[in-house]
Amino acid sequence: MKLAVAILISGSGSNMVQLIKSMDDNHPAYPSVVISNKSDAPGLEKAQSLGVPTKIIDENCIKNNDLDFEKELIKILKVYNVELICLAGFMKILSKKFVNNFKDRILNIHPSLLPKYRGLNTHARVLASNDTIAGCSVHLVTPELDGGPVLAQTEVAIKKNETVESLASKVLIEEHILYPKVLLNFSDQIRKLEV
Ligand code: GAR
Repeated sequence: MKLAVAILISGSGSNMVQLIKSMDDNHPAYPSVVISNKSDAPGLEKAQSLGVPTKIIDENCIKNNDLDFEKELIKILKVYNVELICLAGFMKILSKKFVNNFKDRILNIHPSLLPKYRGLNTHARVLASNDTIAGCSVHLVTPELDGGPVLAQTEVAIKKNETVESLASKVLIEEHILYPKVLLNFSDQIRKLEV
């Protein structure tokens, strides 16, 4: 049986698109649902056009903060029998309890060479530090923000007149290659462990 994957997004969903496209007939996993915490995330339409069900958990409508958000999230994950979660530009921090419940079953992509530059505004901080190499990382999610074990990274050279925008788009191209590769290996590993 294929592994059911949920992809969580907040925005454009370009990584999500690459993950969905990578899960072809021979892949050990399939995209079971795309969930967004933003009702206007452009990624929602892209997921629908690729035939993947979408769900919105609108933070503005969730009165009782994070707990209610995660209750709703767990309900959806159960309905779709989700076994693996991929965060793809999902800009909400998940609670320690939630993350521990899905231990070793949540992946994230981050636009830096972790452990450097956890958190937001990664590219601006890279440039301000006069680094010569940037990149992206796929890591397991633990309760520590962007602090879980790194599964794979790709480096990108920083040019002299690099801007935040030019660096972000170079790194994003590498993210689109790296994340599907890691998902494939990781899904294979999970399936092997279960045999
Ligand atoms: C990507 O660059 C991803 O690495 C980053 O947001 C962008 C989402 O783009 N994620 C984070 O910064 C998480 N801390 P996408 O919606 O087009 O995939």
